[in-house]
Amino acid sequence: MNSTKLLIATTMGLCLALPALSFAADGAATYKAKCAMCHGAEGQGKVDPALKGTSLSADQIMALITTGDDSKKPPHKKPVNGLSPDDAKAVADYIKSLK
Ligand code: HEC
Repeated sequence: MNSTKLLIATTMGLCLALPALSFAADGAATYKAKCAMCHGAEGQGKVDPALKGTSLSADQIMALITTGDDSKKPPHKKPVNGLSPDDAKAVADYIKSLK
C-alpha cells in the first residue's frame, strides 16, 4: 500500500470510530453531571432509586426525562435540566449499559 492510500484508509477509519467514542462519552458525562447526584455515580442509587438494571427500556427512560411525568417527584416533572433529545438518548443508552 502506498502512503496516500494508507492516509486515506486511516482517515476513513477515524471518521467511523470517532462518533461511536464521543457518543459513549457524552452519555456518561451527562449522567455524571445531571443524574449522579441523585441516582449514584454508578447508577446504584443514592438518595433516589437505583437505575442500574432497570426494567425500563431506553425509550421509556428517554420519555421519562424529556417529556417529564407529573406523577413523579419534582426532578422529572420537567425535562431534567434542559436535556436535548440527543443527550437524553445518550444518557438512556448509558444507563442501559450499566451492569
Ligand atoms: C434531584 C434528584 C434527581 C435527579 C437530578 C435525577 N433524578 Fe431520576 N429520579 C429521582 C427520583 C426522586 C425518582 C423517583 C420518582 C418517583 O418514583 O416518584 C427518580 C426516578 C428515575 C427513573 C425511574 C426509575 C424507575 O425504575 O422507575 C429514571 C429512569 C430516572 N430517574 C432517570 C434519571 C436520569 C436519566 C437523570 C439525569 C438526566 C435523573 N433521573 C436525574 C430523582 C432524580
